[in-house]
Amino acid sequence: ETMKILVATEKPFAKKAVDGIRKIVEDAGYELALLEKYTDKGQLLEAVADVDALIVRSDKVTAEVIAAAKNLKIVVRAGAGYDNVDLAAASARGIVVMNTPGQNSNAVAELALAMMIFMSRNRFTPGTGTELQGKTLGIHAYGNVGRLVGRKGKALGMNVVAYDPFIADGAVFEADGVKKVASVEELYRVSDFLSLHIPATAQTKGSIGYDLMMSMPKGATLVNTARKEVIDEEGVARAMTEREDLKYITDIAAGNQAELDEKFGKRVFATAKKMGAETAEANVNAGLAAANQIVDFLKNGNTRFQVNK
Ligand code: 3PG
Repeated sequence: ETMKILVATEKPFAKKAVDGIRKIVEDAGYELALLEKYTDKGQLLEAVADVDALIVRSDKVTAEVIAAAKNLKIVVRAGAGYDNVDLAAASARGIVVMNTPGQNSNAVAELALAMMIFMSRNRFTPGTGTELQGKTLGIHAYGNVGRLVGRKGKALGMNVVAYDPFIADGAVFEADGVKKVASVEELYRVSDFLSLHIPATAQTKGSIGYDLMMSMPKGATLVNTARKEVIDEEGVARAMTEREDLKYITDIAAGNQAELDEKFGKRVFATAKKMGAETAEANVNAGLAAANQIVDFLKNGNTRFQVNK
């Protein structure tokens, strides 16, 4: 019987990426099904009923979705953060979950730098702005995205510092001319721009708030292209109320975004819909990697990018 692979994307991939995925899937002798721009979870529950493999973006793969997918063997999150997949539910059924690390990182890194320039130029409205050159850029977590932001920040003449509790090897930072700081507190204390690249986990949720923001230098900007869950939204609002020089820009609207917009005007900005990975290049890189990883798993048992080992 032919294996069936479903691409379920509430926020669809570029056509070029879908075409590439189709070719990989069909060349492997499998069948491709597409569920794009769906508006309710009932459509997803129905679509997964007979599939062997699933490719998603930020789509929520809940225990309910997994229970509805009787033949499911593998889920690939085409992207980095897999906080949208219920790993426990997948593991309980022996379903392999993977991400595609690095594949959409450049798109996110470019957006992070663009956000810094946008905020330092008054959100492209009249008035005197400031430059990035000579300022200190702090990178919170030096993974695939953080590293690219660091290198690009250096190219713009920024003084780049980083903190990552999971990278013990100082050579990783040295290779990019980036200074490794010893603590998260030190990182925020010195950063004119702080770019967040931490995943949303039990440890990080709500971890960026009042104290860290209050410790930042005069005129500092917090840039969030990571996840909204890592922010203590009430804490950030309180810090921005007490310090009229602080700015916050995010690719993932806060739960209290309307309140932030109302209170802080040009000192805040949120994209209308998460757009960090919204480039044709990132879609192709992540989408094709996801398809290739599924074929390599189903045919050869390759679990290299499994995140629920
Ligand atoms: C990621 O974790 O890869 C990014 O947040 C991209 O998410 P998206 O596929 O929903 O755009």
